[in-house]
Amino acid sequence: MTDSEDDDTPQLSSHTLAALQEFYAEQKQHADPGGDDKYNIGIIEENWQLSQFWYSQETALRLAQEVIAAAGEGGRIACVSAPSVYQKLRELHREDFSIYIFEYDKRFAMYGEEFIFYDYNNPLDLPEKIAAHSFDIVIADPPYLSEECLKKTSETIKYLTKGKILLCTGAVMEEQAAQLLDVRMCKFIPEHTRNLANEFRCYVNYDSGLD
Ligand SMILES: C[S@@+](CC[C@H](N)C(=O)[O-])C[C@H]1O[C@@H](n2cnc3c(N)ncnc32)[C@H](O)[C@@H]1O
Repeated sequence: MTDSEDDDTPQLSSHTLAALQEFYAEQKQHADPGGDDKYNIGIIEENWQLSQFWYSQETALRLAQEVIAAAGEGGRIACVSAPSVYQKLRELHREDFSIYIFEYDKRFAMYGEEFIFYDYNNPLDLPEKIAAHSFDIVIADPPYLSEECLKKTSETIKYLTKGKILLCTGAVMEEQAAQLLDVRMCKFIPEHTRNLANEFRCYVNYDSGLD
């Protein structure tokens, strides 16, 4: 290519290019990919304003296997602020389980009837079809490492569960988690797609496979 050809090539400004890239990324996200693709972790990009940090594939799989074992044959599973576990469960083709995704981020409404809009600030503001104590296990990963957030999320967890609880949150929340939910720390250490500044752990109130 000569210099003169170079000069004639139309150029987009970096601003226009960025806007175009963002537009295409959004289009890709809104298009229903169908099939198994729609359950890929990361198909919905992390929004750090919403404290979204997705689990690694390995961790999502391990947690999905754990809740399947804990829920038992044909069980009901509630994923509260833990969308990657929901996605992994559906990717595993566990149609024999009833699984709901409780999420604040309405992009996850792409999962239709299984999506339940949920804001931890209104912990019991749930649709009528969600009966009290109707889930064999609740897995939850509250968005913030604060007592207020854990306290309110705990109200939801206790309302939903028949008994079993798997909580994922910071190691610093250990004491409060024990007080609020009677859960104990597991040996298994959850990992994320990015390294987080805070040490993360899992907590359970039953004999789990996470030790
Ligand atoms: C720390 S992330 C946990 C995600 C988990 N690591 C995963 O990979 O599935 C917290 C989750 O809480 C959700 N969230 C943000 N604000 C919320 C709110 N007000 N009420 C309930 N959930 C909220 C986020 O969308 C995000 O999915």
